[in-house]
Amino acid sequence: MVKTQVAIVGGGPAGLLLGQLLHKEGIDTLLLERRSADYVAGRIRAGVLEPGTVSVLEKAGVASRLHAEGLPHDGVEIGFRGHRHRIDLRSLTGRSVTVYGQTEVTRDLMDARATSGAPSVYEADDVTLLDVAGSEPVVRYRHRGEVHEVSCDFIAGCDGFHGVSRRTIPAAALSLYEREYPFGWLGVLADVPPPWHELIYANSDDGFALASMRSPTRVRCYVQCSLQDRVDQWSDARFWAEFRRRLGGEMAGRVPDVPSIEKSIAPLRSFVAEPLRFGRLFLAGDAAHIVPPTGAKGLNLAVSDVFYLSEALTEFYRAPSRADNVLDNYSVRALRRIWRAERFSWWMTRQLHRFAGNAFDEKMQQVELEHLFESRAAQTSMAENYVGLPL
Ligand code: FAD
Ligand code: DHB
Repeated sequence: MVKTQVAIVGGGPAGLLLGQLLHKEGIDTLLLERRSADYVAGRIRAGVLEPGTVSVLEKAGVASRLHAEGLPHDGVEIGFRGHRHRIDLRSLTGRSVTVYGQTEVTRDLMDARATSGAPSVYEADDVTLLDVAGSEPVVRYRHRGEVHEVSCDFIAGCDGFHGVSRRTIPAAALSLYEREYPFGWLGVLADVPPPWHELIYANSDDGFALASMRSPTRVRCYVQCSLQDRVDQWSDARFWAEFRRRLGGEMAGRVPDVPSIEKSIAPLRSFVAEPLRFGRLFLAGDAAHIVPPTGAKGLNLAVSDVFYLSEALTEFYRAPSRADNVLDNYSVRALRRIWRAERFSWWMTRQLHRFAGNAFDEKMQQVELEHLFESRAAQTSMAENYVGLPL
């Protein structure tokens, strides 16, 4: 049977980055991904990196294109009732965020893995995790019709919300916390120079809109939509008309009708499964938790999880006698950050979307936003959460 030290299930940012961090420490990994490499590289998702995320990507040796092409942003704007209010991240926290697409992070990590020679199997079907409670777990998978088994010391479940890893853990061993939101986000990517200099999160009477970007010539824009909506019901013309209405003010007039190059709908959810360890299986990234995208935390949390996990595994291989302490510590450290990001993402989502709630809830949203615009302490709190804690 093939042997490796750490079998990584899932080749999204969490799995790829873990592989790279462990490779730097001389720890062998095998990465198994259900989809093709082209599919993984083509997915359009998050766009904002915390400084802590950038420092982990530096440590992993995959930050040179990020430094050349990433866009540093010193502030974000909140749109409300026709006005835009700037949250000055840099003056409030001394730090800023970097706009660099998850697609690019993934590409940099895939290139680094190919260069390192660490093995990856794409289009691995029917991945099954066996003996995860024992000291020698096995991962079984099918590739091109043939069944393979890999024995390993540890399994890293980095296979996203719908993956097999979390479902392998007995229900009694996990506590699940979940909230679904009654709307989704419709996202559009388009090749046009962004008319805005910084991201605009807009709360309007017609619902939420977010003006973001990927480069000096490419925008990424979102509108809150119904969970029943399908992408084919949203022509480009309908999307831009709605986006302009929600953005409002003079900026609306500067948004042209451009053809979209990608359009997709994502539901909004808050979810945490804890603890993040069951025997020799660890959960990391979306496999363990989901945040609604409003706080831009999903990708950043995947990075902080695998950073802590790489530290725990590295320490284990240096001093196996302290194994249990070190390995449990991963869950404790990661969850502290996860719950903080869950709170912030839930708060941002609640303040910026239209809920079919009662008039009292709407008033509370208005008062909360007015408090944010008037109070330096409230802005500092938001800015600190948005840029994230150092790792
Ligand atoms: P993923 O990126 O989901 O990677 C998991 C990988 O595991 C995938 O490649 C999957 O194919 C693979 N896999 C699944 N099952 C198996 C299996 N059984 N065997 C082997 N491999 C398997 N965050 C933001 O901050 N802003 C956004 O705008 C934003 N938009 C998003 C849009 C969508 C549609 C989604 C799903 C997420 C979005 N996120 C966003 C969240 C962010 O992209 C995720 O938090 C991030 O991708 C997490 O990385 P991950 O590696 O943990 O999981
Ligand atoms: C983007 C996505 C987010 O969820 C967010 O909060 C900010 C930016 C983006 O895709 O650019």
